Amino acid sequence: MQVSLEGKVALVTGASKGIGFAIAKSMAEAGASVMLSSRKQDQLDDAASRIDGETAVYAANAGNVESAEACVAATIERFGGLDILVNNAATNPHYGGTLDVEPGAFDKTFEVNLRGPLFWSRAAYRQAMAANPGVMINIASVGGLRTEYGLGVYNLTKAALIHLTRQLAGELGPNRVVGIAPGLVRTDFAKVLVDNFGEQLEQGLPLKRLGEPDDIANLAVFLASDKASWITGETYVIDGGAGVRGGVV
Ligand SMILES: NC(=O)c1ccc[n+]([C@@H]2O[C@H](COP(=O)([O-])OP(=O)(O)OC[C@H]3O[C@@H](n4cnc5c(N)ncnc54)[C@H](OP(=O)(O)O)[C@@H]3O)[C@@H](O)[C@H]2O)c1
Repeated sequence: MQVSLEGKVALVTGASKGIGFAIAKSMAEAGASVMLSSRKQDQLDDAASRIDGETAVYAANAGNVESAEACVAATIERFGGLDILVNNAATNPHYGGTLDVEPGAFDKTFEVNLRGPLFWSRAAYRQAMAANPGVMINIASVGGLRTEYGLGVYNLTKAALIHLTRQLAGELGPNRVVGIAPGLVRTDFAKVLVDNFGEQLEQGLPLKRLGEPDDIANLAVFLASDKASWITGETYVIDGGAGVRGGVV
């Protein structure tokens, strides 16, 4: 099976490193023109220079509605359309008991992780996909499907993002809206967990290794492609088999 994104235009938030970078790189390698977005211009420039394919960059905060509209407009101006939106950027300023969160940290988490995807999706839909249907991919987390200590607020945003995925799939067809719920993946975001518990967690996994950003990117490319043209509304767990062992991260 040949999975191709030839002729497609993709926009990936949080694309300067980690999972977002892997998705942007894989989509470009599959033939898409890719707009990379995150906050820091220098890191975006560096990321784009490491991708062999047609790319552009746009510095924007994923929690900002005006930035979403401007970035989508810049993508359409640069590449002539928008077929694939990947809502990947997320933040987690609070670790600890759910009721111990400061209101500001709570608001920030929801602003970037939930409000962001909603308004980036709106910008993509209104400016491009209402007329030319495409695919929206939301990067959630296995934490959005179960409870665990420490990440309660972050996981609330991911649970809501999984619900938003279903909701928008119902409202925006024939656009496809799909989610990916990764387990623990080796990125800066997960560094503390990986450094402290990585080896132990790996041994508990049926597949005996943590996730790599490319594992998530491979699924994202498939879901974005026409090979997934009868898939919408669902969120796909990709966790090395953690779930079958009853909830190892
Ligand atoms: N790693 C894991 O184990 C894991 C597991 C489950 C789900 N996830 C999800 O996977 C996604 C990517 O995570 P990752 O592990 O790849 O993280 P990462 O390596 O820390 O990369 C995060 C990316 O997002 C950007 N970013 C952060 N805050 C942003 C904001 N407010 N606006 C725009 N861009 C922002 C960062 O660049 P700037 O700082 O320059 O903006 C960077 O490009 C997230 O949705 C995360 O929740 C990760």
